[in-house]
Amino acid sequence: EKGGYEHFMLKEIHEQPKVIMDTINSVVKDGQISFESVGLTDDDMREIEQIYIVACGSAYHVGMAAQYVIEELTSLSVRVELASEFRYRKMKLKKDSLVIIISQSGETADSLAALRSAKEQGIKTLGIVNVVGSSIAREADNVFYTLAGPEISVATTKAYSTQLIAGYLLALQFAKAREEISEDKYASLIAEINTIPEKIEKILEDKERIQWFSTKLVGIKDAFFIGRGIDYAISLEGSLKMKEISYIHSEAYAAGELKHGPISLIEDGTVVISVVTQPELYEKTVSNMVEVKSRGAHVMGLTTYGNYAMEDTADFTVYIPKMDPLFAGSLSVIPLQLMGYYVSVGKGFDVDKPRNLAKSVTVE
Ligand code: F6R
Repeated sequence: EKGGYEHFMLKEIHEQPKVIMDTINSVVKDGQISFESVGLTDDDMREIEQIYIVACGSAYHVGMAAQYVIEELTSLSVRVELASEFRYRKMKLKKDSLVIIISQSGETADSLAALRSAKEQGIKTLGIVNVVGSSIAREADNVFYTLAGPEISVATTKAYSTQLIAGYLLALQFAKAREEISEDKYASLIAEINTIPEKIEKILEDKERIQWFSTKLVGIKDAFFIGRGIDYAISLEGSLKMKEISYIHSEAYAAGELKHGPISLIEDGTVVISVVTQPELYEKTVSNMVEVKSRGAHVMGLTTYGNYAMEDTADFTVYIPKMDPLFAGSLSVIPLQLMGYYVSVGKGFDVDKPRNLAKSVTVE
């Protein structure tokens, strides 16, 4: 049942190229996205002016990444909210809003409550859901099904990755329906999304290098993840993967926030993992890496092939294939998933069933 892998998590990590392709193919035909199955028409997409993305945990991190992509490609305003906060807030939702609930299980209590509260206020809702026929899938006005298949490992990997794809495709179709993107750009970005599976394969072929680095992390007590923009969203996910299965205290910070407090935690040997895939933000984040290194941090850089100058600063560098920066998160998250996995294995933990956690959180 684990297909020859030692754990479901590793199996699911390896399934990502396939399930991403399946999810793309479910709505992309002949280079065009069709949301007929989702039920969102181009007219709907033209009428919407704000998007609220509401979710918990890793699905919330997907929302963070999707936010940057939607903002880059469209004139929509986007907010990302934790479901457990959203449901108790007194937010003033405008009628021309769309509330997007992202949930693998479709049963997360807070996400379901947030969905119901949006519906009660007469706001249009869209579920990005993996489990067919789940509560959120049944109750949302529209559903985009991710085709990750059953996810057994408590720590999500393949569902997360297909949710990201759903976010990219939504962003692109909003841009198209609203005439905010040229035909050429649209076609080239779809082509780019189609390259994600093979690029993930490439990263997975090189997993021994991550495994080797992970053995060095088995004894650490804290880890910090930093990044800006999409790299920050991915840092949040890398940090969660690390803490939930390796039981290592880890935090993700927007790199620019370091000097507003967290840098005081950096001492000799503190591990800082820095995600740097966005060209516009590259120099800024590297300067933060220099700052922590000068205070004794052990710095890992996660960047794109070609950025070899990273090695002047980082003690260890992991490269991902070149990709349009909008979608680089789909690649940079893979080494971070592997790192969480290998550190947990190295510590002898029950990777697929971390303590105190359940696959689906159906209570508040
Ligand atoms: C982390 C993880 C959780 C879930 C969260 C939401 O690896 O799996 O953080 O992402 O509990 O669950 P769903 O997506 O089922 O609503």
